[in-house]
Amino acid sequence: MLGRDRTQWIAVATTWRRCDTVVTVPSASHPRLDDSGGTQGEVLLDAPRIAERIEQLAGEIGAAYPDLVRPLVLVCVLKGSVFFTADLARALRIPVVMDYIAVRSYHGTRSAGTVELVKDIGMPLQDRDVLLVEDIIDSGLTTSFLLDHIAHHRPRSLRLVALLDKQARRLREVHVDFTGFRIPDRFVVGYGLDVDERWRNLPDVRTLDGM
Ligand code: IMP
Ligand code: MG
Repeated sequence: MLGRDRTQWIAVATTWRRCDTVVTVPSASHPRLDDSGGTQGEVLLDAPRIAERIEQLAGEIGAAYPDLVRPLVLVCVLKGSVFFTADLARALRIPVVMDYIAVRSYHGTRSAGTVELVKDIGMPLQDRDVLLVEDIIDSGLTTSFLLDHIAHHRPRSLRLVALLDKQARRLREVHVDFTGFRIPDRFVVGYGLDVDERWRNLPDVRTLDGM
């Protein structure tokens, strides 16, 4: 059979399986940021640092829910929190379920401060322990809208985790229960964060100069 005996085919199949698990991203293929109007940004948080902090956050969050009756509901805010929620969910050692909410924010140029619900949560939240998972808090308008909205569902408890916090730009007071990193007042992209839908897939968080 094609000049190979059974043992050789098993060896080939094993090699293929091993190859499947080895995933490397050559750094040369990382997209550059300078075709989006800004210049090449600097790495603010690299992927290992983000991963390390998420492990710590998962420990803090797990310790804050010693008396869970039902799985914690992670509410992921589309689209920016997708990567953070996925990594946090896998780092948590408590039972979780996930749901998704989407909003559109208009700042400055159009109707300043208006937040519009684009997609509501799918599951009933009444009497559930809910953790809102945000990518970044900037003015605080989006997060406070979301917290008010979820509170109307009368959850058993409602807490907030944010990967990034730009406190310098706050317009609305928001109580953040768990914070990943406090960052300076710079526009950042990567690890879910975008400008015009771009750069979400960067593994690290970078500043976008010129924004
Ligand atoms: P808010 O100003 O706190 O309401 O933030 C509104 C939204 O603006 C966030 O959920 C993000 O989607 C987006 N945003 C704020 N700052 C940044 C940033 O530095 N990079 C990318 N998106 C941002
Ligand atoms: Mg955005």
